[in-house]
Amino acid sequence: MRQPFIAGNWKMHKTNQEAVEMVEELVDLVGDIGDVDIAICAPATALAPLSEVTAGTNIALGAEDMHWEEEGAYTGEISPLMLKDVGCEYVILGHSERRDYFGETDEDVNKKVQTALKHSLKPIICVGESLAQREAEGTKDVVKNQVLAALDGVNIDDLKVITIAYEPLWAIGTGKSASTKEANEVIKYIRNVLRNEFGKVADSMRIQYGGSVKPHNISEFMATSDIDGALVGSASLEAQSFADIVKFE
Ligand code: G3P
Repeated sequence: MRQPFIAGNWKMHKTNQEAVEMVEELVDLVGDIGDVDIAICAPATALAPLSEVTAGTNIALGAEDMHWEEEGAYTGEISPLMLKDVGCEYVILGHSERRDYFGETDEDVNKKVQTALKHSLKPIICVGESLAQREAEGTKDVVKNQVLAALDGVNIDDLKVITIAYEPLWAIGTGKSASTKEANEVIKYIRNVLRNEFGKVADSMRIQYGGSVKPHNISEFMATSDIDGALVGSASLEAQSFADIVKFE
């Protein structure tokens, strides 16, 4: 009942020319596949040119972050209005790199989630534990706290447009993915947290796994009971590898 959702997170990669060329190739490779939702989340500079390439295709556009205000004196920031203006449907919020390198807090993430929803942007909310937290058996507490903090005050009707991406920090960019069993267990736990807090809407919320997802391991993740898709970093930078992930079956 939950349509799989595969999103690429390009992080700080690609000039506009590189971005456009890659997505043009991707559009051809992906074809008219309709049983999976696909998004490319790109740097802010590439969003306007990409919106022309993705218009009328089955590839949606997303941003990698945004500010929680609509406008104002926030040098260097991008607002939800600007993202809507260039055709974004999704926005990644609370990625661990934002939390770690830029001091983003759970409270910031929550404000961003609320603003995104107000402007009909669909949030992809990232949560996940560090290696030290996992070794101290803190994974469940960490993800529970992050999920509940991000969703604090959110209207229940809005929850179904939200995606949670479980990305254990030790699996990001390391080539060391979580085992499918580990990832599915945490994702199942997250769904239980959502169910306890919000009721049956939890069953229509998509939860992705992220962390060293590649063409060779995507089908294992997708074969599990609770993983609904993937948030893909480095393997989303190249058209053929991202297309292979999208066409995982
Ligand atoms: O948001 C995606 C991400 O952090 C995972 O990156 O390169 O390990 O697929 P990667």
